[in-house]
Amino acid sequence: MSIALVILAAGKGTRMNSDIPKVLHPIAQVPMLVHAMRAGAVLSPEQTVIVTGHGAEAVAKAAAAEDDIAQIAVQEEQLGTAHAVAQARDALKDFEGDIVVLYGDTPFLQPDTLERMVAARSDNDLVILGFQAADPARYGRLVMKGETLERIVEFKDASEEERAITLCNSGLLACDAKTLFSLIDAVGNDNASGEYYLPDVVEIASNRGLKVTAVACDEAQTLGVNSRADLAVADAVFQSRARAELLDLGVTMMAPETVYLAADTVIGRDTVIEPNVVFGPGVTVESGATIRAFSHLEGCHVSRGAVVGPYARLRPGAELAENARIGNFVEIKNAEIAEGAKVNHLSYIGDATVGAATNIGAGTITCNYDGVMKHQTTIGEKVFIGSNTMLVAPVTIGDGAMTATGTVVTRDVEPDALAVARAKQDNKPGYARKLFDMLKAKKARRDKGA
Ligand code: UD1
Ligand code: CA
Repeated sequence: MSIALVILAAGKGTRMNSDIPKVLHPIAQVPMLVHAMRAGAVLSPEQTVIVTGHGAEAVAKAAAAEDDIAQIAVQEEQLGTAHAVAQARDALKDFEGDIVVLYGDTPFLQPDTLERMVAARSDNDLVILGFQAADPARYGRLVMKGETLERIVEFKDASEEERAITLCNSGLLACDAKTLFSLIDAVGNDNASGEYYLPDVVEIASNRGLKVTAVACDEAQTLGVNSRADLAVADAVFQSRARAELLDLGVTMMAPETVYLAADTVIGRDTVIEPNVVFGPGVTVESGATIRAFSHLEGCHVSRGAVVGPYARLRPGAELAENARIGNFVEIKNAEIAEGAKVNHLSYIGDATVGAATNIGAGTITCNYDGVMKHQTTIGEKVFIGSNTMLVAPVTIGDGAMTATGTVVTRDVEPDALAVARAKQDNKPGYARKLFDMLKAKKARRDKGA
């Protein structure tokens, strides 16, 4: 059976109180729309249509970054969820198979839920996703008779008996494409908000003698984000799920609730994550590494046995080989640090390669930016960079070379050479004593005068 996904993402999200379209607000650093797209991807859809409206251009761009063959349908006016699905008709005119409708603001659907919806289609014309609500007050109720979904009643229209039902409407559904568009044609907007409601297709289908059922999932999966408070809750739900998965995979976290993960964070087993570590997008940490407290990592790769932090910052393109050591108040950007190399204290290494077993002294800086362009620093193996060395890029330090403390390196250093570039030291015997005596006498004269 071919599947097409229709993901509704046109709404403004008024309650977000934001200039950014609602579905682009991130959960674990990834737009919630992309979470919805990834959830739907488990069905291996033949086509994916994103219905955009508010901030259409930005939403289309985010969708394309995730899936470059996703199609965009524009809903010029937001006249309701049924009207939104109708906008996908053109994009799906040659499609034969099932449409699964997802909401861009409902990011947490689990693969098995979608699979159960599609499976239930084999003996039903229309499948609705319901959920067991802890507090069902505001949701529409699913009125079931055995396996058959008879209708969805809004709370305000429900009888006492119907109000006792806890199986509620998520709004998501699966249906044959032709059938769904024909049902949607029959949806009217004669209701309190004057909108075309997608859930109305249930009653229309029943009236046509079609078979309708509901599949149930737990409430966490249908969690819809409508406000910043919902967004914070959704992020927290994501974080606790992701941490639990990592703990299961054999990652040690000393204080899991203080570790902030991105949706794509990968961490190998026997790695130790100390408290208060933040993972931005695109981080892979292999097994047996240690990420010490208060470090911030994004777009980087940390190999087996490496130690990072405390208080380290790994920026995009930081590539640490096995047993590399990045210490406190060190920033690494777009740089390879080879096996066993150490950058332990107060340094900036950017646009550089550092060879194996090289030691970078405290306070070293790769001066990679001349105010207009970025330049590369190449440091060989077993090099010793003295403390407070300024490496003015582009510059190359050969294998086994050394730089004296405080050196400003502006020319390449050949292998095994020592580079010294600082003023010569001159010790003047007895001068300190004389200077102190002179200054003390001056202070005594001033104190007397005052
Ligand atoms: C909807 C359902 C409700 C369900 C709830 C679950 C309808 C009428 N109601 O209500 O039964 O319990 O979700 O979360 O379907 N959208 C468009 N175009 C529109 C309107 C909405 O693309 O014209 C998109 C929104 O961007 C959003 C999704 O559809 O991603 C849901 O719309 P929203 O307004 O949030 O619906 P709810 O009021 O939450
Ligand atoms: Ca909603």
